[in-house]
Amino acid sequence: MSDKNMEKDAITGVETTGHEWDGIKELNNPAPRWWLIVLLISIIWAVGYWVVYPAWPTLSGDGERGGTKGSYGWTQYQQLKESQAEIVARKAAYLDRFNNADFDQIKADPELYAFAVAGGTSAFKDNCATCHGTGGSGSAGYPNLLDDDWLWGGDVDTIHETIRVGVRFTHDESRISEMPAFGGMLSEDEIGHIADYVLSFTGEAYDGPGKALYEDQCAACHADNGTGGRDFGAPNLADAIWFYGNSKGDIMSQIRRPKHGVMPAWEHRLDESTIRQLAIYVHSLGGGEN
Ligand code: HEC
Ligand code: HEC
Repeated sequence: MSDKNMEKDAITGVETTGHEWDGIKELNNPAPRWWLIVLLISIIWAVGYWVVYPAWPTLSGDGERGGTKGSYGWTQYQQLKESQAEIVARKAAYLDRFNNADFDQIKADPELYAFAVAGGTSAFKDNCATCHGTGGSGSAGYPNLLDDDWLWGGDVDTIHETIRVGVRFTHDESRISEMPAFGGMLSEDEIGHIADYVLSFTGEAYDGPGKALYEDQCAACHADNGTGGRDFGAPNLADAIWFYGNSKGDIMSQIRRPKHGVMPAWEHRLDESTIRQLAIYVHSLGGGEN
């Protein structure tokens, strides 16, 4: 560049490019040697990289997902597969230990316990949350699994059994019980008296004909003091936790023509290991019994 504008800088003796800003002139120095070397190395590196690794998209797509394959044969897909295989293998190791341990051993082993709760949490979201709520808090007609009010029992083995066989379901061993319909057997007055007595378990004292009727008709399943019975999955009527409502009308309606909850059996839908993880998870929710 030997334009006429070119002049030599007085101090360094280097040509200027002719660019000048506020009296500051740009010298026409060659790029520093180290910089050129780095540039060259980068170019060589890039060419090497193109050869070794998958790099360029191609029309034919000879590499995975359409691109040059690279001589080394490495792909991200392969890497992903390997790391997934590693996770599966790690999980399998836990699963083996889990499957060979009984509930007491699992409870005593923090690692296995955490493994079970994690597995149970995700299986619960997939299979149980539709009825029992995401966190297990239940809703009308679907029991809350967080409290210590249990229809069938709250120790791990009993929870496991309930999950395995279901309630009033088609499974051969399903838990079965039926509250009789008293609609035709008792008069509306009698049903009203019984409801008043039932409400007295959680409310004001009651002294009337409902007590004797209750003891005749209901106590066999719900117990004299209303605390329920697990042999029949008969709810506790004295704990202010209600499945189907706590108004006098709700209770009369249950006596006349009872509602019955159905819980599916999971034995043939989930594997035994998952059912055990679920039992531990449900037990861990806060209402678990020993
Ligand atoms: C279709 C709705 C439904 C689904 C899905 C469901 N449940 Fe239930 N579950 C119920 C009902 C209804 C009951 C109450 C049965 C009864 O009346 O005794 C129940 C009862 C239970 C009980 C017994 C509670 C007690 O107080 O003894 C447990 C434990 C339980 N479910 C766990 C689960 C788990 C774990 C899953 C997922 C694998 C699940 N449930 C999926 C409806 C469901
Ligand atoms: C054969 C046993 C049996 C007898 C007898 C029986 N029940 Fe029940 N009762 C049950 C069962 C089981 C349930 C729970 C149904 C379910 O899980 O869906 C229930 C549920 C109830 C509920 C609903 C509780 C709630 O939380 O909403 C009330 C109230 C009730 N019974 C009152 C009575 C009264 C009052 C009598 C007598 C007139 C009576 N039961 C007789 C077994 C019985």
